[in-house]
Amino acid sequence: MSLDLPSLRREYAREGLAEADLAPTWHGQFARWFEDASVLREPNAMVLATATPDGAPSARTVLLKGVDPTGFVFYTNHGSRKGAELAANPRASLVFPWTDLERQVLVTGTVERVGDPETEAYFRTRPRGSQLGAWASRQSAVLADRDELEARHAAVEERFAGDEVPVPPFWGGLRVVPTAVEFWQGRPSRLHDRLRYRLSHGGWLVERLSP
Ligand SMILES: Cc1cc2nc3c(=O)[nH]c(=O)nc-3n(C[C@H](O)[C@H](O)[C@H](O)COP(=O)(O)O)c2cc1C
Repeated sequence: MSLDLPSLRREYAREGLAEADLAPTWHGQFARWFEDASVLREPNAMVLATATPDGAPSARTVLLKGVDPTGFVFYTNHGSRKGAELAANPRASLVFPWTDLERQVLVTGTVERVGDPETEAYFRTRPRGSQLGAWASRQSAVLADRDELEARHAAVEERFAGDEVPVPPFWGGLRVVPTAVEFWQGRPSRLHDRLRYRLSHGGWLVERLSP
């Protein structure tokens, strides 16, 4: 197999990012870029990296379901691989790979569970099929085959028939509370703009990083 990777080389020239253009806060800047990203198919898809306490990393895509000055919220199964890694080592990194805009946003921070009322409120907005799916999946566990999953789904459908589906006790929201948020804008000749808000002694600094 031969992939023509050299032909995919891109020159980035859409625009720049100057210190003077930045919003005063990381969340203000994120809101601006998120609005620009609304032209993308799934702007809220973000890569979440976690690690075991001894430093073995893993990454996967999850969906951003809330963002405010306290952080970035997503929902998952607490018993999953990521859930177990975050319980043991509550630190994470996020990547928003907005490559069609020649941008990425990188977040590093600590992770905490969102409160039960917030999880409950979000769970209620999900379609019933997704609510049942959350019950049916022992996320990250090995299955014998597809039939096993479908049998579990059928069992929960029967269990909750005619009733509101409760939030599974093993499922909920996690918030990445940032200690740094970097805004990356591609520029010609690989001289990209990288501006990072970083928490230092209780205040936020803005630093320019070498590309
Ligand atoms: C576009 C996209 C969005 C996803 N969103 C979520 C999500 O919000 N929560 C989640 O638990 N898994 C989501 N997944 C599935 C995860 O990528 C992953 O397969 C799953 O969470 C198990 O990960 P783990 O075994 O590393 O814990 C999504 C996958 C894709 C491709």
